[in-house]
Amino acid sequence: MNIGGTLIAGPATGPLKGNITVPGDKSMSHRAVMLASLADGATEIHGFLPGEDNLSTAQMFIDMGVRIEWLNDEKTSLRIHGVGLHGLKKPNDVLDAGNAGTCVRLMTGVLAGQSFTSMVSGDASLCKRPMKRVVDPVRKMGASVQGAAGGDLLPLTISGGQLKAISHVSKVASAQVKSCVLLAGLYADGITTVNEPKPSRDHTERMLPLFGQAVHVAENGTISLQPTDQLSAPTSVVNIPADPSSACFFAVAASLVDGSDVSFNSIGINPRRDGWRRVMLGMGAHISLSHENTVGEEPVADIRITAGGLHGMHVDPNDVPDAIDEFPVLFAAAALADGEFVLDDAAELRVKESDRIAAMAAALHAAGADMEEKPDGAVIHGLVDLKGDIDVDAHGDHRIAMAMAVAAQRANGEIRIHNAAAIATSFPNFVTLAQRIGMNVRWSEK
Ligand code: S3P
Repeated sequence: MNIGGTLIAGPATGPLKGNITVPGDKSMSHRAVMLASLADGATEIHGFLPGEDNLSTAQMFIDMGVRIEWLNDEKTSLRIHGVGLHGLKKPNDVLDAGNAGTCVRLMTGVLAGQSFTSMVSGDASLCKRPMKRVVDPVRKMGASVQGAAGGDLLPLTISGGQLKAISHVSKVASAQVKSCVLLAGLYADGITTVNEPKPSRDHTERMLPLFGQAVHVAENGTISLQPTDQLSAPTSVVNIPADPSSACFFAVAASLVDGSDVSFNSIGINPRRDGWRRVMLGMGAHISLSHENTVGEEPVADIRITAGGLHGMHVDPNDVPDAIDEFPVLFAAAALADGEFVLDDAAELRVKESDRIAAMAAALHAAGADMEEKPDGAVIHGLVDLKGDIDVDAHGDHRIAMAMAVAAQRANGEIRIHNAAAIATSFPNFVTLAQRIGMNVRWSEK
């Protein structure tokens, strides 16, 4: 996929040092915009991530008549004038999710509940990603959805309205599927329930009660929602904590570069997002937490990481959904750790913004690393340094680009990472913050 943007990265010229605040959580930023738009009343949101993915979600609601006021130039604070569950207007055009899987999959649930027909699409990468996982349940709830490949591919045309409550058993541990069904459940005629094979991130369940909608999570993991027919804007500001998926890039870099000592302010440590830290600790990383606190309904802490001799490990399959977005950079860590790293039960990595197993294997091979692909994971044997003066392809996937920029800190020459512009979807100031802690990375001017 040719989307342009070349990063020139590595090798590190000295230890990485500093204390930084990474931008707001991407998953929560999507959900905050959605729930605030569907609520009665105005909601103020702070700590919003102004990445392209989240701006696509905001734009969809603007296209359906929601007024959004940006409260600062950086677009991290905003006030959303909600129109209520039934107040969205039919958009004049196709709703564009850009590169954002979370946007399109969660919005499938929202649009299934609307009494108008709408069409959603996205960029070339999103148009290749599977949608049946959300289309099937909303069809069962009574929405009509048309799309290529029997509704598996964008663009989707969605006609909805009053829905039937269902009990959905998801085949994949996916917060996008679970959230789509719960959001559609807001428009259903009874109690909607969701079961998933392993628990996935639970931001939707934590955030809905802030808007007056109870969600029940049973001991066996069944999530259920009885719609109250109304969401209400919270009386206090919705604060979004810093994104652990963004911090993880710098945490791995600090682990890999001798003498480094980097700390992050107030990072989300929700157990469903904290798998990266469990894997890093399992690999021997030196990570400590302080100032544990909560922001809204989410646990946070300051995190410090110092350089440490990483070793391989066999990742516990139960940790996989909790670290699903971090595996590209964890592969980079494994490629430079002592011994063998094994990952299984992670086939979902093949249907992200790119096939992340294949994309990382190709890029790390080019840099001389020993990464063997498995259908649902990888086996990596670590080595001391990567090869520099090479070109690799990020395939238009933000996390591949940033993972290779981290790996390059331990290469013996620069690595040129092509098709890296998608970093702007989730972490627009990645290069600025990376440079601030001393990483050797810059955008190519060519
Ligand atoms: C997300 C869920 C995950 C994750 C994605 C964000 C979310 O996807 O990979 O980056 O915000 O719900 P899946 O639900 O497909 O696992």
